[in-house]
Amino acid sequence: MIFWLLFTCTVGVLFYLHHAKIRRYPPGPLSLPIVGTVDTLINGGKAGILAEQKYYKYGPMMSFFVGSSTVFVIINDFQLAKDLFLRDEFSGRLKTWWHQNVRGNQGRNLGIINTDGTVWTEQRRFALKQLRDLGFGRKSLDSIMIEEVDVLIDQLDGLTSMDSTFNTPIINVLWQIVASKRFDPQEPRTKKLMGLLNMQFKHGLNRLAFFPLLGKILPYNAIDKSLFELKQMMRQLIHEHMHSIDLDNPRDFIDVYLKEIQSNPKPSHNFDIEQLIVICLDFFQAGAETTSTTLLWAVMLMALYPKVQQKCQKEIDEILGGSRLPTIDDMPKLVYVMATLMEIQRFSKVAPGSLPHMLIQDVQVMQYKFKKGTIFISNLTKFLNDPIIFPNPEEFIVERFLEDGKLKKYEEFVPFGIGKRICMGESLAKNELFIFFVRTLQRLNFKVAEGLKPNPQKYTAGITRIPDPYYVHISKRSEI
Ligand code: HEM
Repeated sequence: MIFWLLFTCTVGVLFYLHHAKIRRYPPGPLSLPIVGTVDTLINGGKAGILAEQKYYKYGPMMSFFVGSSTVFVIINDFQLAKDLFLRDEFSGRLKTWWHQNVRGNQGRNLGIINTDGTVWTEQRRFALKQLRDLGFGRKSLDSIMIEEVDVLIDQLDGLTSMDSTFNTPIINVLWQIVASKRFDPQEPRTKKLMGLLNMQFKHGLNRLAFFPLLGKILPYNAIDKSLFELKQMMRQLIHEHMHSIDLDNPRDFIDVYLKEIQSNPKPSHNFDIEQLIVICLDFFQAGAETTSTTLLWAVMLMALYPKVQQKCQKEIDEILGGSRLPTIDDMPKLVYVMATLMEIQRFSKVAPGSLPHMLIQDVQVMQYKFKKGTIFISNLTKFLNDPIIFPNPEEFIVERFLEDGKLKKYEEFVPFGIGKRICMGESLAKNELFIFFVRTLQRLNFKVAEGLKPNPQKYTAGITRIPDPYYVHISKRSEI
């Protein structure tokens, strides 16, 4: 009897405290003490909380809880997301035990993706400048891109399984600037690395990161181990560079970063080897998976929409005249191709939401007083699917990006995010998408294989939205 009385009282108090807490936040689906929002437990793998209509009724901001104490606020209103994410207060990143010890090291958040404040500003600014000087997002990379995509195209013929097909050639472009290295797509080690990467992006946010005690007690899971393995690879790469570096003639990003460490060895200087390891990891993860996943969607959509494919090929043939190699200077001339690429990015929503932004000081937005540490996500899926801006958003319609023979631009077209933390690799990604797409359509035809029609509704969404492996029939156009 006493047991049941105590039990009922405890449950009552837990519900009361939880309710008192969630009342202070924007509305959202049912959440319970200890477990948090029920739908996030059962809705895994499809980014449902960002994509499903039923969640849009909560208004411009919606809350969900992981456990009792971690609150996420999803921004469903485009203008609001724009206003908030331009502010410094909304530009923090998560500082969980996992971020500080698994992705970071010894209690420190490291790199660019997961740092904030001065460390983030310094590292991002330095990295962008050096990568640009080394050719990032510039014409000088065109020939490297062509070489990489041509190696891949040579291997594509007949009935082909599309899985991590583009990962290696795509990362090879960035990796030649970062580390003067390329991965051999045929090597078993490369295949293993790309598999690890794929698993990390499909998995999404690690819920255990928000339960520090559990994180410390439980053994490392497969994702953690794969991260350690990638970090070890970066460490080794950096050590090789340290043995062969000529400070007067830096070869790549790792060399210029090592030079920066040497030039100012004070401990207060935020440039060190651990930081460099995680920056390389950031580039490797962000650079390989996102762009190649977009290309996977591109091939699927070209097979499913043969008329669009033919129109792209016609334009490519007219402008490039059969044998000329594409360069990024062709972008303004290939208007239909550009519109197709934009519609592919809109339709595929490869980044369903921004990464989590953590509030770095207390802020009031509308009637809500948010505490430092509240986590915000901008709902890129909702913006890219807004039926007012993009009518019939579930349909693949290239013409929505065309007006009077020119490209039609929309503020709401935000596949790379919004505000201060917008994707750092946007220019490289756009160039890679263009050159890979144009060269592929210049040399190949894609067709649905009999009885194996790919289904765009079959995907896994974690950090990125990746189509399930599918088959397509590939044939060579006249050899170029
Ligand atoms: C189609 C390809 C890509 C898409 C759709 C994409 C999308 C995104 C998105 C949505 C964010 C998060 C923005 C936010 O948190 O508000 C992001 C961040 C980032 N991306 Fe990309 N990205 C792509 C390619 C790349 C490439 C090629 C690189 C190579 C360096 C890259 C590097 C980064 C980095 C370093 C960040 C973190 C920026 C920061 O926190 O300051 N991305 N990206």
